Amino acid sequence: MRYLFNGLLTKKEGVNWKNTPFRHSAVNFSENITLSPFFLNIFRYFFVLKTDLTMIKGFIFDLDGVITDTAEQHYVAWKKLSDENGWSFDRELNDKLRGISRLDSIQVILEHNNITLDEDTIGKLANQKNEKYVESLDDVTPEDFLPGAKELLTHLRTEGFHVALGSASKNASKVLQQLNALGYFDVIGDGNSVTESKPNPAIFLHGAEKLGLQPDECIVFEDAESGVDAAKTGGFHSIGIGPKERVGHADLRFDSMADATLFEIKSYFKDLF
Ligand code: G6P
Ligand code: MG
Repeated sequence: MRYLFNGLLTKKEGVNWKNTPFRHSAVNFSENITLSPFFLNIFRYFFVLKTDLTMIKGFIFDLDGVITDTAEQHYVAWKKLSDENGWSFDRELNDKLRGISRLDSIQVILEHNNITLDEDTIGKLANQKNEKYVESLDDVTPEDFLPGAKELLTHLRTEGFHVALGSASKNASKVLQQLNALGYFDVIGDGNSVTESKPNPAIFLHGAEKLGLQPDECIVFEDAESGVDAAKTGGFHSIGIGPKERVGHADLRFDSMADATLFEIKSYFKDLF
């Protein structure tokens, strides 16, 4: 015991480690100072082992339905296009479009209506929907964060976490500008960054790479079933925003961003902070 509780000692007053069973693990700093194995192990635990363990260093956020509710504006634009073309389109079908690209979305709507069109026409119709959607973005203001989103982003910034956007939208920068939210992100990953749509994890892998982090060092926030699938396939930790039926397969789920505080997140992923 005497060996263990002797810490930083001078050879003169303390233990001569050469004569103890700990002689191989004691460290001589200088002629007079030796660090005992007991203190050496404490030092190792905090400064060596701890940094070897995987810790959460970054967050990747989906945009629509997580930071702001443009999911609603997407719905309105698709609904207008569908009405103009006599297609059936409702909120249930709209939920299936969460997280997937514009062209993949129109394919889902056409398949639902048993319609086949050539590529050119599909492209033109997708552009028409986009014009309606972009027009509606002019009404988005810094008041339009989903409750809790701005608070969480601010908290992550003050605690020094790395933050990326991982959205399938080609209009993501415009939405962030309207919200005055560009400053919360180190990296903007959007529909122009990768070609594959969620559930492919490409957009999140892109974000992690740009942040200089491994997937298991990041938590992904998603409101889409396909987005949670993408996060899981990519090896990320995941938080689902929305009902169990949609995002219940995420590691952790909140009904809304208002419940997603850093305190709650740290309590759940406690071994990773
Ligand atoms: C987000 C939305 C999808 C949308 C996609 C593409 O992921 O959740 O509903 O289809 O972005 O958006 P864009 O603005 O490029 O048409
Ligand atoms: Mg979304």
